[in-house]
Amino acid sequence: MFYISLAVLVVQNASLILSIRYVRTLPGERFFATTAVVMAELLKGATCLLVKQFALFLYDAVVVQYVDTLKLAVPSLIYTLQNNLQYVAISNLPAATFQVTYQLKILTTAVFSVLMLRKSLSRLQWVSLLLLFTGVAVVQVEQGQVGGGSSPGAAQQSYAVGLVAVVVSCLSSGLAGVYFEKILKGSSASVWLRNVQLGIFGTLLGLLGMWWAEGAAVAAQGFFHGYSPLVWGVILNQAFGGLLVAVVVKYADNILKGFATSLSIVASTVASIYILSVTLPYAAIEGWGPGSQDSWVLSLTLGGEWGLVVRAA
Ligand code: C5P
Repeated sequence: MFYISLAVLVVQNASLILSIRYVRTLPGERFFATTAVVMAELLKGATCLLVKQFALFLYDAVVVQYVDTLKLAVPSLIYTLQNNLQYVAISNLPAATFQVTYQLKILTTAVFSVLMLRKSLSRLQWVSLLLLFTGVAVVQVEQGQVGGGSSPGAAQQSYAVGLVAVVVSCLSSGLAGVYFEKILKGSSASVWLRNVQLGIFGTLLGLLGMWWAEGAAVAAQGFFHGYSPLVWGVILNQAFGGLLVAVVVKYADNILKGFATSLSIVASTVASIYILSVTLPYAAIEGWGPGSQDSWVLSLTLGGEWGLVVRAA
């Protein structure tokens, strides 16, 4: 800290003098230097107050109450496994197959919610889950028939590895999600504190996983090897998505979160048919519009023979 603070001071001082000189010599109206001094003092005081309060709060919540913090080690370990397996699954399966198969996590989430949170599901909810399971099975059978993964780079992809990874991810997602929900709703601690605790373990366990699986390669080529702006985009998306999950679990629950994300698959498919004129081999939209009694109707033909009418109240 001694050397770091000195180094930062050197850079800060040089930039301060230069920037003061720059703003004081700009053409146009000049600001009052005395107000700048007041503002700097005010900002310094406020920052110290915030940092001190936040540091004290974090120290108490994370270190003093370490038993409470340790509780987060379990979901964190499972989430770290899941986040790594997701990369394995997506690298080995076509994106659509992964996306549909991954929806099995709603079933695992429901089972863990019943077992660990003593939730009860209505008959309609169980039937929905059964339908979901059937849908996933149909995708798997079709992939088997057409041979699956004939995309570029398919030679290095293994369908079996991808499938195992996605099934274990579904189990992890259900268990970790419900575990986190139990901890979150079982105390008054904020969702932000819970995520700080989760993040501490997640970083440590992630580093351990990195060292175990790819330690030598990372040491040889560097931590940020191959990072492009797109990779940064993926990382930011994943981090933001994680925080979003935490907030959704706080205000709703994991099962609802699962159905909401799977609804996005239906929405993007319908949007692709309409906006991008994508045609599906088995389904076509016949028409849609307002139905009777304040309902909204979407009618589809499936496989050229079957008609399906979806009616939303
Ligand atoms: O697919 P699923 O919804 O289970 O993925 C949850 C994701 O949200 C995981 O990547 C997990 O690391 C992240 N998460 C998080 N903070 C939470 C809960 C989940 O970052 N409190």
